[in-house]
Amino acid sequence: MSTSQAWRVAVIGAGTISQRVHIPVFQKQPNTTVVAVCDVNEARARAVADETGGATVYSSYEKMLTEVQPDITVVATPNIFHKPMATAALEAGSHVLCEKPVALTYHDAQAMFATAAAHDRVLTVGTHFRFTGPMQAAKAHAEHGFFGRIYAARTVWQRRNGIPGYGSWFTNQELAGGGALLDIGVHTLDRALYIMNYPKPKRVTGVMFAEFGPRGRGLGGWGADIFKPSASARYDVDDVAWAQVIFEDASVLHFQVAWASNYPETFLTELFGDEGGARIGGLDSVELYTMLNGMEVKTDTQLPAQKSSSYDQLITNFVRRLNGDASADIVTPEQALVHVQIVDAITRSAAEGREIVL
Ligand SMILES: NC(=O)c1ccc[n+]([C@@H]2O[C@H](COP(=O)([O-])OP(=O)(O)OC[C@H]3O[C@@H](n4cnc5c(N)ncnc54)[C@H](O)[C@@H]3O)[C@@H](O)[C@H]2O)c1
Repeated sequence: MSTSQAWRVAVIGAGTISQRVHIPVFQKQPNTTVVAVCDVNEARARAVADETGGATVYSSYEKMLTEVQPDITVVATPNIFHKPMATAALEAGSHVLCEKPVALTYHDAQAMFATAAAHDRVLTVGTHFRFTGPMQAAKAHAEHGFFGRIYAARTVWQRRNGIPGYGSWFTNQELAGGGALLDIGVHTLDRALYIMNYPKPKRVTGVMFAEFGPRGRGLGGWGADIFKPSASARYDVDDVAWAQVIFEDASVLHFQVAWASNYPETFLTELFGDEGGARIGGLDSVELYTMLNGMEVKTDTQLPAQKSSSYDQLITNFVRRLNGDASADIVTPEQALVHVQIVDAITRSAAEGREIVL
């Protein structure tokens, strides 16, 4: 049975995602108030706090956690800070929505989920694309057995020009921990694994490139601190990663991400089952393929209009879960760990030029 209590939310990092998503969406939830905003850029934190109509502004997250004792903490800072900030929040007794990637390494992610378990707190991650209409439709088809056994999948997020915050923390290895693979790779993995029901990865082979950023090409529009390409802009992360993952149940995933490419923008997940297949394209289409009465059949799923965005759904489900509704679908520790485990293995495989056996 679910109960509803008042939730006091603190946000660490008042950048693009917090301004556009976390703060407005948490403010819309019943019995939920954003009470504090922290950013090293205090002016930015103040501007964001003003929108909430009264959140307190901090520039130190440690001070904020001690003084505010929030029920929920959102961590939306450069990736390197996710582990120390989420860990401090969990230790202070807060549930945590941590932005993706939850951590830079599998080892760090394991430690974070162990801290959450030790403090009996929920730690979840912002990989929200599973809540888009096409993904929910494909999941429903999978649960009704449409695909039969899914033996293969292909999942792609390839941008034409989409390097975020060129020259900002996003393209700085020390602050971001990696480029396209970490940034959009975890979303791209979740889209396929969610439908495949998270088989256990066994063998991983990957390659990574930095083809566009080092030449000042492929700049996108995301991030609070965007700089124009210049000789001094730091760029030492990957912008392309391709991989193959083979799972313990012998199924295979082909994975492809790019912040930039000489190719049309592609956002696609394809599923190959022994009874049916699907092509989940963009944010609005699910084509299904099967045999019917001995004939090859293709059909389109008519998607219902989404009442809210996929990120709204992720936050709504997180709050429902905290209110005791165990059926609310959130990104679980096991799932978030698999994202980082595969990213880790792709990075190692690319660096060492060999297959990684997990
Ligand atoms: N789930 C999604 O779809 C999604 C989308 C975009 C970004 N993100 C993730 O959200 C996080 C933030 O990304 P963004 O696009 O908002 O970046 P951003 O650059 O717009 O904002 C980051 C903010 O963190 C602040 N900051 C830096 N160091 C800090 C510290 N020590 N203490 C407090 N604040 C600090 C910066 O001043 C900045 O305001 C990243 O991990 C990113 O991967 C997730």
